[in-house]
Amino acid sequence: MVSVKAKGYGKVILFGEHFVVYGLPGIASGIDKYVEVEIQELKDTKDIIFDDKVFKEKFTLKEQPEHIKSKMLKAIIEGEEFVTLEGLKIIINANLPAGGGLGYSAALAVAMAGALNQIFELGWKQNQINEAAYKAEKITHGTPSGIDNSCATYGTVIWFEKNMKGGENTIRPFKCGKSLLCLLVDTGIKHDTKKAVTMVRENKEKEPKKYNKLFSEYKNIVSKAKKEIQYGGVEEIGKLMNQNHALLKELNISTKEIDEIIKIATFENARGAKITGAGMGGNVLILCYNEAQQNKLMEMYATKNYNSIKIKIS
Ligand code: MEV
Repeated sequence: MVSVKAKGYGKVILFGEHFVVYGLPGIASGIDKYVEVEIQELKDTKDIIFDDKVFKEKFTLKEQPEHIKSKMLKAIIEGEEFVTLEGLKIIINANLPAGGGLGYSAALAVAMAGALNQIFELGWKQNQINEAAYKAEKITHGTPSGIDNSCATYGTVIWFEKNMKGGENTIRPFKCGKSLLCLLVDTGIKHDTKKAVTMVRENKEKEPKKYNKLFSEYKNIVSKAKKEIQYGGVEEIGKLMNQNHALLKELNISTKEIDEIIKIATFENARGAKITGAGMGGNVLILCYNEAQQNKLMEMYATKNYNSIKIKIS
């Protein structure tokens, strides 16, 4: 039996969630948590079986053509005229948590695109896998910037700019001058990226003056951040993260859980802390001084029932 496997990585946004949707630059990184898609060729069916081990769902393309994963599959393969979608089993596994602002849907789209590329021998390069996954992201999120699927594809630190004219997005991988020791703290609240993005858009339309000001403040932050990350100015990066978070609060995407997590990080003198991802739940990114602080904060959050994971961005 022919069987192939591909991975898509989770991501953290260091700077720029929401702002990137409007073409402003963002800085993000892939993380070492992933979604893995295995595709097996089946000889005894003309259908496609989805076996999602994460969401514990089993269905076929014919039974549920409108299921989000059926639509993602069709979007990824759209335009490949020599591909016939039949006789496959698609098995989904992950160690990346879903609904936490860590780019689960994008990681799934990239893993699916990567596995389809192999099974159908499409010869796609990384940028084509990324573009195919972006089509699936549009099904899931409506107007995604493309930053999530780019991190899921490349897995490294990237400078990202959405092309507002619809052409190729700018994706520039770059290196950190110093590794960033971080903690990702889960609010435990599952969020909905589409809902958060829609809310920000509606508010922006209602109050253009206020939002334009926030946007120009953000531009200033992200260009300083890139230099500091390349140079290894960890202290300054922390301050810039705090400033970015203050703007995200103005976008009304914070919650009482996020505020509590940030308050603890500030009290413990972490270098910086901010929402990462769409907000309204999901995860908070904390930049720590050292491993001892990572461990201490992890214990403190556990006593408040917040799960956290250590990550190193480099
Ligand atoms: C979601 O991870 C990041 C947002 O900026 C949406 C997007 O960029 O597509 C909120």
